[in-house]
Amino acid sequence: MSKKAIGIDIGGTGIKGAVVNLKSGSLIGERVRHETPQGGKPKDIAKVVAQLISQLPDAKPDMLVGICFPAIVRNGITLSAANVSKEWIGLDADALFTAELGRPVHVINDADAAGVAEIKFGAGKDVDGLVIMTTLGTGIGTALFINGKLVPNAELGHLEIQGVDYEGKASFAAKERENLNWAEWADRLQTYYATLEALFTPDLFIVGGGVSKQHEEFLPKLKLNAPIIPALKRNNAGILGAAALAKKAAK
Ligand code: BGC
Repeated sequence: MSKKAIGIDIGGTGIKGAVVNLKSGSLIGERVRHETPQGGKPKDIAKVVAQLISQLPDAKPDMLVGICFPAIVRNGITLSAANVSKEWIGLDADALFTAELGRPVHVINDADAAGVAEIKFGAGKDVDGLVIMTTLGTGIGTALFINGKLVPNAELGHLEIQGVDYEGKASFAAKERENLNWAEWADRLQTYYATLEALFTPDLFIVGGGVSKQHEEFLPKLKLNAPIIPALKRNNAGILGAAALAKKAAK
């Protein structure tokens, strides 16, 4: 089977895709990005994904396609919709994309995909015990790994802390929306990660999402028992993990 696959990362604000070298865990050629269509409706998103793939210079018709999406995804069915249209709830996303793209597609949760990329190729490689991957973006995504094995669909971004769904307080979108400076945002992240730590006692936290490239501004401010380190694959982790899991699902 080919050592290349296409990875697509659908987010609340952008949709990114690239051809992936599954052996080295790196992107081949250009990464293409489009805005997520207003309202985040299934048909509109599927059309943008088809257009995006047609713009990837290295994409071939026989390549597997893995898509990661910001929702609980069980057997290809999207079961929640925090930052996209509610039409996704209960939808057969595998079937939608397979029909639109004319080839088999495998859909999974975005944080799970990013976590798989970090465990396979990045900051969580060869780490035993419990690793909690978190992505700080439009929402907060989380993925749990026990001795390198994914426990899918952990939705710990929605932990209720101080009476609120804490994603709305500590995501990167919340920092932007409320104009928080790094110290103010780090205070909220401290509350969030300390709560996770009290509940799970992980061996390692990995922090991804676009803002993780500025990790020096906020990670050193956090006081936790477990090490907390930036994702190595940064904002490409979703693309890499989605492509890797498409290959695994096709086996
Ligand atoms: C969703 C998760 C997703 C995360 C990051 C949350 O709002 O519930 O499924 O992984 O955002 O996109």
